[in-house]
Amino acid sequence: MPILDGLDPAAQAAAADVLAAGGLVAFATETVYGLGARADDDAAVAAIFTAKGRPADHPLIVHVATLDDAQHFGDLSHPAALRLAERFWPGPLTLIVPRRPGVGTAAAGGQGSIGLRMPSHPVARALLLAAAARGVRGVAAPSANRFGRVSPTRASHVTDELGPDLLVLDGGDCPLGIESAIVDCTRDKPALLRPGMLDRTAIEAALGTALQAAGPDAPRASGTLEAHYAPQARLRLLDGPMLRSALEVLQGAPVPQGLAVYSRTVRQVPRGITLRAMPDDAGGVAHELFAVLRDFDLAGMRLIWVEAPPPGPQWDGVRDRLARAAAA
Ligand code: TXA
Ligand code: MG
Repeated sequence: MPILDGLDPAAQAAAADVLAAGGLVAFATETVYGLGARADDDAAVAAIFTAKGRPADHPLIVHVATLDDAQHFGDLSHPAALRLAERFWPGPLTLIVPRRPGVGTAAAGGQGSIGLRMPSHPVARALLLAAAARGVRGVAAPSANRFGRVSPTRASHVTDELGPDLLVLDGGDCPLGIESAIVDCTRDKPALLRPGMLDRTAIEAALGTALQAAGPDAPRASGTLEAHYAPQARLRLLDGPMLRSALEVLQGAPVPQGLAVYSRTVRQVPRGITLRAMPDDAGGVAHELFAVLRDFDLAGMRLIWVEAPPPGPQWDGVRDRLARAAAA
């Protein structure tokens, strides 16, 4: 099946029919594209793991259209969970809460907790509402990429990863460009498991307390594996001054290399290096980051140099994804 216009009601209805029948649909969200299946159907959920090549014990995020549907899958009575859901849903925040017994078992990878998110993107919302009208109260959806790879931020990335047979609801380029922030609300004190573009200062302001860092006893999350979000090429992070001195001594690149920078100080590069000037704000970089890594891969780059992001909580999400890509 093709890439369909995700704002077309007929396409939304067709996609919701596929979900209701236990099939897979990819769809735009404000963060990255998701690969969805109805969360109450273990066989449909199993098909996600097969398509992604992902180990089946990794828990998936269940996407919902309403707070009521969220409450169907999880217990949001923890004050932190309720407050964050009220403040930031719909939006780029996933809450880990205790799972209700007997629901979403396969989606949660058998864990006693479940990850819930109410996306704000009009395509995702329309799909979830159309699915709910067909009795589908939650859509389990990891990012629509092969396991360990960079998440897709446009419809063509999804078909590049998962083949042309999949129905994709196109919503254009994902506005945020990196995955949701994940907050674990199953413990006394909420912990940030994965930073996103909703930054920790905003979450802490809403909570009125500091977030814990993800500890070794935190629930297993594949997005928190060291080597994740990796392009095919090797990726190296260098701060601005080191990058500039490296470029000064380099005569030419022995293999094709890509270079992504935020600062405006690098203007010329040696032969064999392709320069990509990124925006100098975190939101702009996040929006482009995964597409830039993909473009470098497609162009056959063997090595990707990236200027290390500046300090500041607004860069936490970008810094996290780049650190993981560099660790792969
Ligand atoms: O922005 C996003 O969150 C995107 C879009 C599609 O919504 N989804 C996404 O899903 O990034 P995925 O599967 O690639 O990452 C989900 C993360 C994983 O690290 C997973 O292990 C974690 O959420 N997670 C899900 N349920 C969990 C649970 N019960 N306990 C701990 N971690 C959980
Ligand atoms: Mg992912």
